[in-house]
Amino acid sequence: MALRIEKLDKHFANGKHALRDINLHIGDSEMVALIGASGSGKSTLLRMVAGLLEADAAAGSLIEVNGLCVQRDGRIASDVRSIRAQVGFVFQQFNLVDRLPVLVNVLVGRLHDMPWWRGVMGWFSSHERSIALDALERVGILDCHAQRASTLSGGQQQRAAIARTLVQGAKLVLADEPIASLDPESSRKVMEILSTIQREDGRTVVVSLHQVDMAIRYCPRVIALNQGQVVYDGPSAQLTPELLRQLYGMQADEFLSGSELLSTQPEHHPAPTLAWSTSMAQAA
Ligand SMILES: Nc1ncnc2c1ncn2[C@@H]1O[C@H](COP(=O)(O)OP(=O)(O)OP(=O)(O)O)[C@@H](O)[C@H]1O
Ligand SMILES: [Mg+2]
Repeated sequence: MALRIEKLDKHFANGKHALRDINLHIGDSEMVALIGASGSGKSTLLRMVAGLLEADAAAGSLIEVNGLCVQRDGRIASDVRSIRAQVGFVFQQFNLVDRLPVLVNVLVGRLHDMPWWRGVMGWFSSHERSIALDALERVGILDCHAQRASTLSGGQQQRAAIARTLVQGAKLVLADEPIASLDPESSRKVMEILSTIQREDGRTVVVSLHQVDMAIRYCPRVIALNQGQVVYDGPSAQLTPELLRQLYGMQADEFLSGSELLSTQPEHHPAPTLAWSTSMAQAA
């Protein structure tokens, strides 16, 4: 199993209860969207999976990636660094080193299995460079490899960040609102690339999104958070505007405004049904 989360709660120091009793199982090679209004806990959850943030110290709380413990009972595992090597990140605010060329940014994905001095010196073997160039070709920005990262468009920077997770060999890719700052065309491109690396390589992708129509189009499974709680976990095909309104009330308009959801059919499943199934009713 790619990701297993049990009994996870998170209070911040200011008392904010950001995540409430999260229990999730995500299988190998799934493509899952994490949706929810601003402040619902999406980034907090992804940071905890990445082992960057500790859960509340409560017995039974657990996060495992590929069967390896990231944190348990609110304590991050001592060998978390080696587990992090299997997890790739793509953030809304592109996390590339601006002044370095794209190729070097992508190669940084390999640092975890290089002697430190080679990484620091910026020396990479021709084999490593060819792996990185292949990754850049796959995400469609091979011609940008020598440019400084700061000169790429937002969409190109996100593709470079995805290339880095490929070079890293990440089995689990966490993307936190990777398309929030992008125009519709670049957004589609980035979502298509994430979908391709899931389908073709069998990587697991968990992507947080504001845009519910994107979640439905590209992700067969959707997990919806509301105020730190999972209020829906199921097929995106069943996530209708009616259900979203039941889950989110007035906040649903934040998701649905400008959404093409109402007029287009997703590619990977039949027309959304209007059914309000029992499991969803329970989830809500
Ligand atoms: N370090 C922190 N200290 C205190 N509160 C925090 C901290 N980080 C997040 N929070 C709070 O936890 C809640 C969840 O925040 P989070 O960033 O996970 O939401 P989000 O779903 O990612 O929102 P957005 O869509 O705006 O990115 C918010 O109320 C936020 O203010
Ligand atoms: Mg966030």
